[in-house]
Amino acid sequence: MISPARTKFEDDDCVLEPVEDFSIFDGFSCGDDDLDDFIKNDAQPHQEKLLTVTYAYRLKKDGQVSVPIAFVSLSNDAIRSFTTSRKKKKFPPQKRYNEFPAVKICRLGTHAALQGKGVGTHLVTVLKQIFISANRTGCRFMTVDAYKSALSFYERNDFNYVQPKDRSGSDKTVSLYFDLLRFKDENLK
Ligand SMILES: CC(C)(COP(=O)(O)OP(=O)(O)OC[C@H]1O[C@@H](n2cnc3c(N)ncnc32)[C@H](O)[C@@H]1OP(=O)(O)O)[C@@H](O)C(=O)NCCC(=O)NCCS
Repeated sequence: MISPARTKFEDDDCVLEPVEDFSIFDGFSCGDDDLDDFIKNDAQPHQEKLLTVTYAYRLKKDGQVSVPIAFVSLSNDAIRSFTTSRKKKKFPPQKRYNEFPAVKICRLGTHAALQGKGVGTHLVTVLKQIFISANRTGCRFMTVDAYKSALSFYERNDFNYVQPKDRSGSDKTVSLYFDLLRFKDENLK
């Protein structure tokens, strides 16, 4: 029997775990129509078709768990033709890889009434911890195609631009990555 607990994070203040019953998001809004539509109508079929797994972030207080105050939907990803200084240093030429395994933040939203209070940052930090400690497969990077309005959020959470300073352009989103190895070195010393 495979334990689902590997993908659940819980501390004194919060729980982050995969969603089984999506009706828990009735009444949830992050203020973005596309993301609200996704969590209400598309997240469950995406999960059933093995395209994304959606996690609910809830607060704990006095032994009670709140309704979800944030969600994140994840899928597998790969970073291709990508050079890091660590890649050059750590891998001998015959062992350099053209692709690195990654996890992609496909959708992320905090309840509109609770934005700017550190929820999104804590959720992303918990994800980083999960992906350096409880992986079933190798996963070196976290990636996201970020809304331009959320770029400062990802910058503050130490994500880097795939293309240098790719903030402009006409695309709605900008690709960013986070190096989980650096986070592991800093947190598991
Ligand atoms: C982007 C989003 C997920 C961030 O979640 P959040 O819970 O608001 O994130 P945080 O509170 O950790 O950080 C958000 C901002 O609040 C600030 N902040 C963090 N803790 C704070 C605190 N205790 N007091 C005041 N401000 C704080 C951060 O500096 C950050 O500022 P920035 O926007 O200039 O980077 C959320 O704003 C959201 O759902 N937006 C709408 C949907 C969206 O854009 N999703 C992203 C798709 S890529």
